[in-house]
Amino acid sequence: MTDQAPAPYAGPQRVLSGVQPSGDLHLGNYLGALVKFARLQHEIPTFIFVADLHAITVWQDPKLLKTQVREIAAAYLATGLDPKVATIFPQSAVPEHAELAWVFNCVARLGWLDRMTQFKEKSGKHKERASVGLYTYPVLQAADILVYKATQVPVGEDQKQHLELTRDIAGKFNHDYEAPGFFPLPEPLTQGPGARIMSLRDGTAKMSKSDPSDNSRINLTDDADAIAQKIRKAKTDPEPLPETMEALSERPEARNLVGIYAALAGRTEAEVLAEFAGQGFGAFKPKLADLAVSVMGPIGGEMRRLLSDPAEIDRILADGAARAREVATPTMAEVRRLVGFWAG
Ligand code: AMP
Ligand code: TRP
Repeated sequence: MTDQAPAPYAGPQRVLSGVQPSGDLHLGNYLGALVKFARLQHEIPTFIFVADLHAITVWQDPKLLKTQVREIAAAYLATGLDPKVATIFPQSAVPEHAELAWVFNCVARLGWLDRMTQFKEKSGKHKERASVGLYTYPVLQAADILVYKATQVPVGEDQKQHLELTRDIAGKFNHDYEAPGFFPLPEPLTQGPGARIMSLRDGTAKMSKSDPSDNSRINLTDDADAIAQKIRKAKTDPEPLPETMEALSERPEARNLVGIYAALAGRTEAEVLAEFAGQGFGAFKPKLADLAVSVMGPIGGEMRRLLSDPAEIDRILADGAARAREVATPTMAEVRRLVGFWAG
């Protein structure tokens, strides 16, 4: 007897991703995630949410949370998401995320979650004081994705492990509940030079909102002067740029700036090196600063303009939530039936 591969998912393609409303967005978020959302919305039905359920895995001031959600929504709109094309919504407005997460908590194994490196990083030395939510965070992420049966998930490279867990949960659910092909095994979309943007002060550390140095990152809300100055101050080395990326393997800061240039210009790193090989950073940095200012400069202003009319953002989010529920509700009804719950 031969083992047959389970039936593959045969439903429609969907894109889904989200960002937490906890802190200012930066160039890494933009190039690793937001820029891809805007691109994909024209190719595949796209669902982009603000992850407020995930945000409260660490303390959030209830008086500020809604404002933080609007800020992320404004960032989505300012970077090119069109609410008439993509579905944009707050995670907490679609209760099916949390409901499916509970079922998945009973599908995922402790051993799978014990391997998650992000929990280890975020919980630090005192893991017994971390919330249980922080531990089971990736299970909720799997529910976010699979409640829409999403097939593609645009994220930065740091989320790959969570996507592997999502695939494991989907596969085990399909197997245990004898529903082959019910959930897709979603693919992370991490390709391209923007997948892992590093700090401008240390080419071996990820650009991150938790870095105490504001000069380590370019914020989406930085104005042209701040952007240009941060690039001028970025750490580099005295060597000229080489002809290949391999030659940059021991020069993390140089490698990072070439990657940023490529991602901002929508070109490959090889193309950037073909243009700049032989030139030093005295020549390269002003070009990079001009490019960064031209791409990033208008975003902050547009965010401020959008945030001056919160009622319009709320209207967009409410409309998105209604559309999201049209997809999430039938999935959850099927899950309830498969699991054997009362209401189906
Ligand atoms: P976070 O701000 O960590 O919630 O991340 C939101 C999105 O931005 C996720 O898709 C991350 O993978 C992505 N991201 C965060 N930091 C970086 C970075 N330094 N480079 C590339 N992508 C990133
Ligand atoms: N964990 C993601 C981050 O830290 C945010 C997130 C939550 C997400 N749910 C998701 C991303 C579902 C993609 C798909 O950035």
